[in-house]
Amino acid sequence: MEGVRTKPSFFLCSLIFLASAALSGADIPELDDHWQKKAEEALARSRAAYHPDPEAVTNHFNKAVHLALAEARNSTRRSLRAVGVKKFKGKCVATNPIDRCWRCQKNWIKHRKKLATCGKGFGRHATGGKAGDFYVVTDPSDDDLVNPKFGTLRWGVIQDRPLWIVFARDMIIRLSEELMINSNKTIDARGANVHIAYGAQITIQFVNNVIIHGLHIHDIKPSNGGMIRDSLHHFGLRTKSDGDGISIYGSSDVWIDHCSMRNCADGLIDAIEGSTAITISNCHFTHHNDVLLFGASDSNENDSIMQATVAFNHFGKGLVQRMPRCRWGFFHVVNNDYTHWMMYAIGGSKHPTIISQGNRFIAPPLRFAKEVTKRDYATEDVWKQWTWRSEGDLMQNGAFFRESGTPNTRTFHRKDFIRAKPGTWVRRLTRFAGPLGCKAGRAC
Ligand SMILES: *[C@@H]1O[C@H](CO)[C@@H](O)[C@H](O)[C@H]1NC(C)=O
Ligand SMILES: *[C@@H]1O[C@H](CO)[C@@H](O)[C@H](O)[C@H]1NC(C)=O
Ligand SMILES: *[C@@H]1O[C@H](CO)[C@@H](O)[C@H](O)[C@H]1NC(C)=O
Repeated sequence: MEGVRTKPSFFLCSLIFLASAALSGADIPELDDHWQKKAEEALARSRAAYHPDPEAVTNHFNKAVHLALAEARNSTRRSLRAVGVKKFKGKCVATNPIDRCWRCQKNWIKHRKKLATCGKGFGRHATGGKAGDFYVVTDPSDDDLVNPKFGTLRWGVIQDRPLWIVFARDMIIRLSEELMINSNKTIDARGANVHIAYGAQITIQFVNNVIIHGLHIHDIKPSNGGMIRDSLHHFGLRTKSDGDGISIYGSSDVWIDHCSMRNCADGLIDAIEGSTAITISNCHFTHHNDVLLFGASDSNENDSIMQATVAFNHFGKGLVQRMPRCRWGFFHVVNNDYTHWMMYAIGGSKHPTIISQGNRFIAPPLRFAKEVTKRDYATEDVWKQWTWRSEGDLMQNGAFFRESGTPNTRTFHRKDFIRAKPGTWVRRLTRFAGPLGCKAGRAC
């Protein structure tokens, strides 16, 4: 294997001593020197990625939505004039600002890396493998976790240099154990129908700058752990993994776009332990209980720096709760379509700031589940201090959002505050949620 040296690290001996001291949730028996160093570097990067004025980011986002819709309207008018109403029907129209940046161009495949400039919201600085070469996954197998075969997805994600990872053909990848993604990677499934399914989870741990686009992720199971390589210069023992779809752990600048996710053993996406600068956009979520978790612990103050944007997603059939469930940080939940939930949509504990704007909430028929929001572990006189705002949300079928906090002191009530596009636009903005089915040489 090119460039990969196995290191018979001190690890094998330490294994015996440390096996009992499993670190909660990190899937590592104990932070050895390698992981300790990575954890410290990652926290420093998360702190640097934290935005001191989050409303500047939400404003910037909302402004981009207005502009994209205005442009889309203009180009629709032009097309109508040019080709007539009938022909126009099948034409590619991208309405939200992330999609308008790259979609509907015939030669998208020649300009794949354009995507890296299209992020919006808190994860907008994620460029993934933009600075690197392309790497083509040709082999769906996952048999060697320490010296993965060239051609497999695992070989690509553990490289130390930036890589833009694409797929030669349609495939189902059943991961034998956690897929440890290294920094500066894009997984770009456009042009192929790629499923990560029936095996272990994707883990983004103590790294920076990852884009995941266009994957189908489903039926992920807990896994026993074992010796797993996470980078060219290191492999080590990992304990049991939970069976999340994607676990974001102590990582920053992460953008997940146009994925479809369902039916995993734990969360669909968990972002925890000082992760920040995250955008989850254009995804289609179905058939799952605990959908999105931002912050797993009421006692981990490191999560105060967590900032995430959840936008243009469709929360669909068979979902129960946590879309998302938040702790500590700042969360912009904007222009999503919530067509299904069974318990509640948005919840949290430990005074998170939740700005819900321009979503559509369709409550379920159950009379006790009409409330969008849910607060945990706090009495009303405590949670009434938490800033949870609903602005321009479209409430249907009896849905209601219980607001809290004092809006009048908020900085975004300054003059240049930009209102989100209201919830009545959500169907247009989320119409293409999930993987897109792109074909070479055709607009997608
Ligand atoms: C839309 O078209 C009008 C008239 O041609 C133009 O003034 C306006 O700037 C256009 N808007 C956008 C966002 O392109
Ligand atoms: C990722 O890329 C950036 C920019 O090129 C670089 O500064 C950083 O060291 C890379 N990260 C890692 C872990 O290689
Ligand atoms: C916060 O992060 C630091 C640095 O990684 C770590 O030492 C500390 O244990 C973390 N705090 C908690 C509560 O996990």
